[in-house]
Amino acid sequence: MAEIQTIPPAAAADRPVIACRDVAKTYAMGGGVVQALRGVSLDIFAGEFVAVMGPSGSGKSTLMNLVGCLDTPSAGRVAIDGEDVSDLSPDQLSDIRSRRIGFVFQQFNLLRRTSALENVMMPLMYARRPVTDRAERAKRCLGMVGLGSRTDHFPSQLSGGQQQRVAIARALVNDPTLLLADEPTGALDTRTGMEILELFQRLNRQGITIVVVTHDPEVAAAASRVLTFRDGRLVSDRRNASPRDLAAELAALPPANDEAGEAVA
Ligand SMILES: Nc1ncnc2c1ncn2[C@@H]1O[C@H](COP(=O)(O)OP(=O)(O)O)[C@@H](O)[C@H]1O
Ligand SMILES: [Mg+2]
Repeated sequence: MAEIQTIPPAAAADRPVIACRDVAKTYAMGGGVVQALRGVSLDIFAGEFVAVMGPSGSGKSTLMNLVGCLDTPSAGRVAIDGEDVSDLSPDQLSDIRSRRIGFVFQQFNLLRRTSALENVMMPLMYARRPVTDRAERAKRCLGMVGLGSRTDHFPSQLSGGQQQRVAIARALVNDPTLLLADEPTGALDTRTGMEILELFQRLNRQGITIVVVTHDPEVAAAASRVLTFRDGRLVSDRRNASPRDLAAELAALPPANDEAGEAVA
């Protein structure tokens, strides 16, 4: 039987960034229904770096969609930063999403014919930020992910790791409370994936709460807490007392000879 370990809140006064109570999600499929989540309760607090694991179909992406305000639960409550988002309209959800949540995906999801800078500026338009400081904010975020000198590059002119950095800068540009990433290293080689994890650890130390879905135990080992799902249920919730130190691991590797990260024949 899977073991369930409950985690005491960091401090009683802390309000969770994510609070789920008895969350269920069903999808209509053909004639029947799929129960993607079957009663999930959990709290995630500010400053945590959480990995979400579990086999394919266990409900990880469904949970991310609910927590990311892309969808609402069939039953139960979801609160983000203390605000109950369970019954909000699509417009209200998109408002919360653009102000509080940054998303990173496996396939980067950048606009192909648009420069790195314009990709990063895009969420500022949706959030209706003042036009005057959009470029400046976007440049600052590209600087944070180490791409300050590549603002005019198009996605096709960037390596996979660099494209994922642009996507991370785009996710950060509205100063989100929460960064959600679904298999962010799934399309990257090992070293480039390590560099992205190192960036997540750095952002996390700066106070950004991060939730990463992964099937890779090596990725989960970089997080300070690991949630495991099976068949729509949370079956394990563990603290990781000694997360990997990606900065130290990268420093110990021989220097990369190919910045683009492409295989050398
Ligand atoms: N939009 C949808 N419509 C119907 N079924 C869905 C939909 N999204 C997910 N599911 C089903 O819900 C279950 C959980 O899916 P998902 O959350 O994507 O799992 P995971 O991300 O862990 O692989 C699966 O059985 C999946 O087929
Ligand atoms: Mg998934």
